Amino acid sequence: MIPDKVPQEDVYHAPQDLVKGAHVPNFEKYKELYLKSIQSPEEFWGDIAKDFFWKTKHTGKFLDYNFDVTKGNIYIQCMEGATTNICYNALDWNIHQRNLGDKVAFYWEGNEPGDELKVTYRELLHQVCKFANVLKSVGVRKGDRVSIYMPMVVELVVAMLACARIGAVHSIVFAGFSAESLFERIMDSQCSLLITADGFYRGDKLISLKLIADDALQRCRDKGVPVEKCIMLKHLSKEQPDSPAASPSPPAKRPCPDLQVPWNPEVDLCWHTLVDGASEECEPEWCASEDPLFILYTSGSTGKPKGVLHTVSGYMLYAATTFKLVFDYQPDDVYWCTADIGWITGHSYITYGPLTNGATSVLFEGLPTYPDMSRMWEIVDKYQVTKFYTAPTAIRLLMKYGSAPVQKFRRDSLKVLGTVGEPINPEAWQWYYSVVGEKKCPVVDTFWQTETGGHVLTPLPAATPMKPGSATFPFFGVVPAILNESGEELEGPSEGYLVFKQPWPGIMRTVYGNHQRFEATYFQKFPGYYVTGDGCRRDQDGYFWITGRIDDMLNVSGHLLSTAEVESALVEHPAVSEAAVVGRPHPVKGESLYCFVTLIDGVAYSTTLETELKQQVREKIGAIATPDYMQNAPGLPKTRSGKIMRRVLRKIARNERDLGDVSTLADSSVIDQLFNNRCPTAV
Ligand code: WTA
Repeated sequence: MIPDKVPQEDVYHAPQDLVKGAHVPNFEKYKELYLKSIQSPEEFWGDIAKDFFWKTKHTGKFLDYNFDVTKGNIYIQCMEGATTNICYNALDWNIHQRNLGDKVAFYWEGNEPGDELKVTYRELLHQVCKFANVLKSVGVRKGDRVSIYMPMVVELVVAMLACARIGAVHSIVFAGFSAESLFERIMDSQCSLLITADGFYRGDKLISLKLIADDALQRCRDKGVPVEKCIMLKHLSKEQPDSPAASPSPPAKRPCPDLQVPWNPEVDLCWHTLVDGASEECEPEWCASEDPLFILYTSGSTGKPKGVLHTVSGYMLYAATTFKLVFDYQPDDVYWCTADIGWITGHSYITYGPLTNGATSVLFEGLPTYPDMSRMWEIVDKYQVTKFYTAPTAIRLLMKYGSAPVQKFRRDSLKVLGTVGEPINPEAWQWYYSVVGEKKCPVVDTFWQTETGGHVLTPLPAATPMKPGSATFPFFGVVPAILNESGEELEGPSEGYLVFKQPWPGIMRTVYGNHQRFEATYFQKFPGYYVTGDGCRRDQDGYFWITGRIDDMLNVSGHLLSTAEVESALVEHPAVSEAAVVGRPHPVKGESLYCFVTLIDGVAYSTTLETELKQQVREKIGAIATPDYMQNAPGLPKTRSGKIMRRVLRKIARNERDLGDVSTLADSSVIDQLFNNRCPTAV
């Protein structure tokens, strides 16, 4: 499985000073630990678990599971009998056991340069306890679901940890999602409470978040399923809707006269008023290992997002261990992950992984390009960041502006660079490695998914010789395989479906409210395996290379979107009878959306309609799903059985005339028409 030897030439090695003192200092050590993690998981994870607080110890097997649908229901159970609390481990345990009360947990850097705030572990614990008491006071109990729709502020971390403290299940919805998407997620998770903020700035753009949240809540009411309460944080407004209480975050420096903050006294509660009188003490709820911790929605190929459910103990161990080893975390590190907490990367590698390790992190509200192209490097310099984690799309975006904005600031504090979200093209890898890291920092290309909870294929910075563009080898406890279309495991250099043969502690446990969908999506195609939905190649040295999605999923700027989701947003427009969406390579975003729309008889295609359709997709899903290209398609290429041939549409979107075998096409005359109607901007 893991090669005996890895090449020493034409690969990149970590510098000696990083190797010294690294948790996993060389490939031999990685192999030894990997074998132990597979052969004696009880011992491997048992040693790790000793660093955590358990109210009661586990009694059953470390991992008990069924991965084979033909043998019964799929289940994964970790550390049966143990009780703990992840918030207690992240805060109280670090403060009392490791004496980290005065250590900075977060340097918060706002959208506007100069908006900043420092929070220590002790301060964070106090804020979390107060808010946990607030949650209890509004009736939230263990097991209840709470939706959180907030910008990147410290209070977002406070809200999620407060839920975890009382055993409530958070469901964070990325603040770039539309009212419709928020509504859909609230309904699916049956939340009784929504936590939001008045608004925030994204670069120059003001987002009236409460306005969008209210729209979502109205849709719930219209469906006859009202959400009882909505707690709103005042992040931007100095005018307090119902009280003059002070905000823990400094008010934004930028005036915001256009901010709209509707207020419904029947439902709305002010964060600050509630927190003001709350106690700083809150005994954690001791949760069983398999109690739910959070739900996070991810795109599904049928269009309806799936509520990926993670549970307490396994997720905690996995997020903490991957963070520690993949970034080779050291106590004096200043770590910065640029993701949004609304995605899994933020859950595992801004909140839970760093905090359970007692790390100091930067929490950034703004954009890499605002107010200028140097912002990221200015922040790296300002806080002397040592470990930096971002997405290939951000690297490609900044690459376009050359090395000057990077070199304006010192980056000699940096030790490890990471990427996540999509395959990184070797050119972007080289730029990241050479220009940003000045050839002194290993680049950890971490492959994982919302479903996997943490990194599953990844280099360890001091141990794994790197190849640009390869996520290299499995993390501890993870057993990958490559299957062909008939489900046979391929050996040696090969390409096919990436699957995993057994669970690791951090794998998702179910799709919230729909276990059958969980089994059908991940376990049906190849019984006995978890199917990632990604293609993968293994080279002659045993390195894994992710080749991209092989299902109807698109990866736009590191965010997964399903073609079905975008298509259904388009056909809801009265002028559209049918739509087909495919990906087209994009130099910055990785992939962009190319939409083919068939209009109902008698409606003429126009640029006004095109703008309306793009707007419709934004409203239904959010700005990340805005189509880049759209074209009129009076006919779509279909098989005789009526299936749209997306393969052909992908070629048309790319303007590639060699269509391969089109003998199954029912009406070949549509092809010329589609080429003639191509979107003129898609050159
Ligand atoms: C893709 C994000 C190649 C992949 C953590 C996966 C990657 C999907 C990488 C999950 C990587 C993520 N190399 N592809 N290093 N990281 N992906 O659920 O297609 O938002 O299935 O989780 O992103 O996206 P998700």
